[in-house]
Amino acid sequence: MVIDRQARLVEVESWGDYFLFTFYSPEIARQAQPGQFLMIKVSENTQPLLRRPISLHNAEENQLQIFFQVAGTGTRLLSMKKPGESIDLLGPLGKGFSLQPELSGREIFCVGGGRGIAPLYYLARKLRSSGARPVIFYGGRSRTDLPLKNRLQTTGFEVLVSTDDGSDGFPGLVTSLVEAELKKRQPAYLYACGPDPMMEKLAEICRRKNLEAQFSLESIMGCGFGACWGCVRKIRRNGQEKYLKVCQDGPVFPLEEIVWQESNDG
Ligand SMILES: Cc1cc2nc3c(=O)[nH]c(=O)nc-3n(C[C@H](O)[C@H](O)[C@H](O)COP(=O)(O)OP(=O)(O)OC[C@H]3O[C@@H](n4cnc5c(N)ncnc54)[C@H](O)[C@@H]3O)c2cc1C
Ligand code: FES
Repeated sequence: MVIDRQARLVEVESWGDYFLFTFYSPEIARQAQPGQFLMIKVSENTQPLLRRPISLHNAEENQLQIFFQVAGTGTRLLSMKKPGESIDLLGPLGKGFSLQPELSGREIFCVGGGRGIAPLYYLARKLRSSGARPVIFYGGRSRTDLPLKNRLQTTGFEVLVSTDDGSDGFPGLVTSLVEAELKKRQPAYLYACGPDPMMEKLAEICRRKNLEAQFSLESIMGCGFGACWGCVRKIRRNGQEKYLKVCQDGPVFPLEEIVWQESNDG
C-alpha cells in the first residue's frame, strides 16, 4: 500500500552538496523494502510542480532516512528544509531489490557510484541480517564525494572505496576496483546503483564473470506510480523487448533484462 503522509524531519546531516535526512514516519517505515523509493514534495507551491524521486536509504523502527545530492532546483529546495518541518512523502514506491534466500553465508558485492550508494546501506543491512556477507564498494570522483564512508564502516561493513582522482582508496573507477577484487574472490551475487555508464560497464563485467546481478535504474519521473509513462525504459522480458515503467516495474531490474543501448546486446 502506498502512503501519502506528512512526515516530520527530525535530523539533517550535510557534507557540501550531500544531505542525510531522518524522518519520523512509522507507517512508511513499517512497509519499506530496500530499493524502493519515495516521491517527495519539495515545495509548498507549484514551483517545481512535480515531486522528486529519492531512494530509501534506511528504514528502522519508526524512522526513515534518505541520502541525496543537490542536482537542481528540486533537490536544492529539499536541502533547505530544517528539523521540525513536515514534508509530504509518497511511498514506499516501486519494486526493490529481491533478496535471494540461497545467498545466506555467501559474499555479496553491493556497488554504489556517487549518490547511487543511497539504497545500498538498507540493502546491506537486510543482507547481513539474512546471513549473507555484503561487501560495499563506494566510488566517487574525489574523497569529498564519499561522505557516507565512515558511517558505513562504523556500522561494521567491509567497505572498499575508490576515487577517480586517487584522493582516497583505490585510484580509478569503482568498476576497476570491482574487477580487481574479482581476481581475488568470488561473490555469489552483485547489486548496484549508480550512473548508467558505471552500470553498463558492471553489466559487461558480470556477464563475463557469469555473475548474477540486479541493478537499480534511474529515470526522469512524473508521477512515480504508473500513471504518466514518463519513466519508461527498454527492457527485455520473456524474450521480448518492451518499454516498462521504471517507477512500477522497477527501479530494480535483473541484469539480463536491461537493454543499455540500441547497439548493445544488453
Ligand atoms: C528511483 C529513483 C531514485 C533516486 N534516488 C536518489 C537518491 O537516493 N539520492 C539522490 O541524490 N538522487 C536520487 N535520484 C535522482 C533524483 O531524483 C534527481 O537528482 C532529482 O529528481 C533531480 O531533481 P532536481 O529538481 O534537483 O534537478 P533538475 O533541475 O530537475 O535536474 C537536474 C539534473 O538532474 C537530472 N535529473 C532530473 N531528474 C532526474 C531523475 N529522476 N533521475 C536522474 N536524473 C535526473 C536532469 O536531467 C538534470 O541534468 C533518484 C532517481 C530515481 C528515478
Ligand atoms: S513516473 Fe509516471 S509512470 Fe512512471
